[in-house]
Amino acid sequence: MKNRSLTIFQPQQKLDPKVRVAFIGGGNMAKAIIAGLLKHGHDQQNILVCSPTQTTRNAIVDEFNVRVHHSNSAAVSFADVIIIAVKPFVVPLVCEEIQPLLSENNNANASNANTNNKLVISIAAGIKQQTISQKLNDASPVVCAMPNLPTAIGKGLTGMFTPVTTDKSYIQLADGLMNAVGDTVWLDDEQQMSTIVATAGSSPAYFFLFLEAMEKAAINQGLPKDTATKAVLQSAMGAISMAMSSQLDFASLRRQVTSPKGTTEQAILAFQHGDLDELVANAMDSAAERAKELSLG
Ligand SMILES: NC(=O)c1ccc[n+]([C@@H]2O[C@H](COP(=O)([O-])OP(=O)(O)OC[C@H]3O[C@@H](n4cnc5c(N)ncnc54)[C@H](OP(=O)(O)O)[C@@H]3O)[C@@H](O)[C@H]2O)c1
Repeated sequence: MKNRSLTIFQPQQKLDPKVRVAFIGGGNMAKAIIAGLLKHGHDQQNILVCSPTQTTRNAIVDEFNVRVHHSNSAAVSFADVIIIAVKPFVVPLVCEEIQPLLSENNNANASNANTNNKLVISIAAGIKQQTISQKLNDASPVVCAMPNLPTAIGKGLTGMFTPVTTDKSYIQLADGLMNAVGDTVWLDDEQQMSTIVATAGSSPAYFFLFLEAMEKAAINQGLPKDTATKAVLQSAMGAISMAMSSQLDFASLRRQVTSPKGTTEQAILAFQHGDLDELVANAMDSAAERAKELSLG
């Protein structure tokens, strides 16, 4: 489900499997996106991973059978889209390394300078789009993206930001790529990225916590563990599927299954007495605040 208030552009362009995608960094998040791209049918030969450590490269070849290289410069010569997937503190170093090559590429394509540059997508948490653009000497269009972990199974949510001046073709390309591994929301203000972290980046853990609590309560009421796990999981999946396929908002869906004086009403009242809304708001405020603290610029 899209959050319309955080959305400026929803092109839903399908990713062309011929698009050449290079990852700088072959860690957890790069692997999650690669897994999603391959699941979506992207050609292995059109994916390159640049990582300095031989064991990382070997593991990536074993797991995905994609191309690998030790040097980040290979990313620039190979790809249409370069995804910076290193830890935030490594980003300045990577930008310094690839900037001259990106500028060279632009000069070679000077006649089509607005639409023939390589697109750079940074997934590094807390590094602003403008910072990366400046470090790259404006040699490439830059999109900042904040994917979450379900990206690995093609069910991710990625918050995306780029200035309004970025050519639409690059926005479509970035959107198509991240849509191959889930869904996207485009932000009209990069400050909203900390809310995306609190709402999507961290939230798989909130849902796991809730599943854990429900499973424990069901076991305490006497269900065997396997039965409790199955009942909790299948009900969560059913509720999410209903919410995704319904036109109704969450509160209306809740009211639909809450008959007056019934069992659900008793549970909802108990949640409300515990001020679930405030608890959730506090938890998400803490996550967003931490995201701002960790922001490097
Ligand atoms: N994990 C998440 O849920 C998540 C979600 C959203 C965004 N992010 C962002 O994604 C980025 C990557 O996170 P991660 O969890 O995937 O990190 P990670 O598992 O630690 O992976 C980092 C990778 O960067 C590589 N690397 C280090 N220095 C390099 C250099 N100079 N050139 C090229 N590659 C280099 C490492 O290579 P070697 O292994 O070869 O040493 C490693 O493969 C971070 O900026 C993070 O903020 C993560």
